[in-house]
Amino acid sequence: MTTENESTSTRTSEYSETAKAFWKHPLNLGPMLQPDGYARVVGECSDVMQIYLRIQNNRIVESRFDTDGCLATVSAGSMAVALSQGKSIDEAEAITAQDILDGLDGLPEDHEHCARLAATTLRMALADARKLAREPWKKQYRH
Ligand code: FES
Repeated sequence: MTTENESTSTRTSEYSETAKAFWKHPLNLGPMLQPDGYARVVGECSDVMQIYLRIQNNRIVESRFDTDGCLATVSAGSMAVALSQGKSIDEAEAITAQDILDGLDGLPEDHEHCARLAATTLRMALADARKLAREPWKKQYRH
């Protein structure tokens, strides 16, 4: 019989050291007040990813994420914000799920969708930033 702890450690062993490091010490985890770009996306597994962007002069000066997902989701969200930090909106829009997977030295095949969720959420937060830039007065109504 396999205990829950044995099962968890077996699964953890399938992850790269980079993915585990981004899970254990996630970069910029937690919300941001009055973001310049924001998106909340529910993944195919029902996990939720949120990304918050602070943008100055068309460049991402701060990028944060939040999720209720698993190790892979936390790692993917953390890598997405790491990759987007300091980039222009155009540059960040080019970040793909494969870039996130490459940055993490891969994820188990059955968790590659976590990278797709992070990439989709980032792309939608960037689209939101473009929209808010056209109507900046709306920022005051954001929480
Ligand atoms: Fe659901 Fe990772 S397991 S997004």
